[in-house]
Amino acid sequence: MTAAPGPDPRFDASATVLAPVTPYVPGPGAGLRVDDVSLTFRGTRTVTALEGISLDIAPREVVALIGPNGCGKSTLLRVLAGLISPDRGSVSIDGRPVAGPDPAVGLVFQEPRLLAWRTVEQNVRFPMELAGWSAARQEARARDLLGLVGLREFARAKPSTLSGGTRQRVSIARALALEPAALLLDEPFSALDALTRERFNAELLNLWQRTGTTIVLVTHSIPEAVFLADRVVVLSPRPGRVVAEVRVDLPRPRRVADLDSASVSSIAADIRAHLVDTTDDAIALAETRAAIEAQRADGHAQAVHEETAPGTPAWFDPFRPEDDR
Ligand SMILES: Nc1ncnc2c1ncn2[C@@H]1O[C@H](COP(=O)(O)OP(=O)(O)O)[C@@H](O)[C@H]1O
Ligand SMILES: [Mg+2]
Repeated sequence: MTAAPGPDPRFDASATVLAPVTPYVPGPGAGLRVDDVSLTFRGTRTVTALEGISLDIAPREVVALIGPNGCGKSTLLRVLAGLISPDRGSVSIDGRPVAGPDPAVGLVFQEPRLLAWRTVEQNVRFPMELAGWSAARQEARARDLLGLVGLREFARAKPSTLSGGTRQRVSIARALALEPAALLLDEPFSALDALTRERFNAELLNLWQRTGTTIVLVTHSIPEAVFLADRVVVLSPRPGRVVAEVRVDLPRPRRVADLDSASVSSIAADIRAHLVDTTDDAIALAETRAAIEAQRADGHAQAVHEETAPGTPAWFDPFRPEDDR
């Protein structure tokens, strides 16, 4: 480990959304490497989820993964987090092979997955307890983290009394508990309404400024990917392969208002172009056409109304639950 670097020119404290808290010394962030990873689930049915995925993620880089439902995005995050091992290929953090859950990696799921019987603070302290930290160290760290995500006044609340967005903040604080060098987020904001989601995106960038972690984020939202990421990795339908990597060379700090700019639209169009043939709608449309052809061939042609316009990816709707899990 090298010494903490000096201020990063991309960081700008004036973009602060949350109340000021104990200053964080940004860590160096981890470099992540995925080398030719393939993974097949063998259960009642055999599903090849990932095939030949290679990715190099630089320290402090923000990478968004985008791809159709069921293409292996969550699986890839779980491989990165050391929760499952690939059949082929390897994953490493700062050159160190990942062989199991790694404290250098924090994971945030789509649903907050909090422990219902524990308070907010106790949830945030949970990883520290498992790591055997002293009570005093846990307390100080939990206070910092709850400040960081703007939840100090909710420390004693139970998760069931909180909104979905607030619960997700708790799970982000918990994921940051052990000062991870990389934060992996699996569609963390998909349950939030559009405005709350924009605010959370801004807050996530703010957190990133202050913590200096590398971020890998799965999202279904192209605007969200462009707003947050340095690079957007587009995956194919299952088995997931990297079909494109789109650089987002927009200056930082970024603000939600920037989302309307022309450069954002052109990057978003570039990403969409790589996705257009891989969407559920495109597949559904192809299936509908095949069905019509089959019926015609049978001499029973029926009017089948094609409601689905090509190029409007249904799975892109961030609020639609994934149906292929
Ligand atoms: N534990 C598992 N056992 C068997 N199949 C799985 C398992 N986890 C995921 N899959 C399958 O692997 C494919 C990829 O899943 P997932 O990574 O969750 O996709 P995504 O997150 O892109 O929607 C899906 O077909 C899913 O059903
Ligand atoms: Mg998923």
